[in-house]
Amino acid sequence: MATVEIDQDLCIGDQVCASMHPDIYEMGDDGFAYVVDGMEEVEGDVVDRAREGAEACPVDAITVSE
Ligand code: F3S
Repeated sequence: MATVEIDQDLCIGDQVCASMHPDIYEMGDDGFAYVVDGMEEVEGDVVDRAREGAEACPVDAITVSE
């Protein structure tokens, strides 16, 4: 089990997270990324995909912590 969080103060709206894994990350009307409802806690291979999105973020706005 891992917790997925996005710091909207750091997010610059790059969108690569939502492009890679739209089931986990989505763009808000304000131009910042948010964790899709129900994906704040993930497990199994979803953790790996959440990490992949976090690593792709150019400003390290996404935290995936176990
Ligand atoms: Fe924001 Fe990073 Fe995603 S800048 S839109 S959290 S890739």
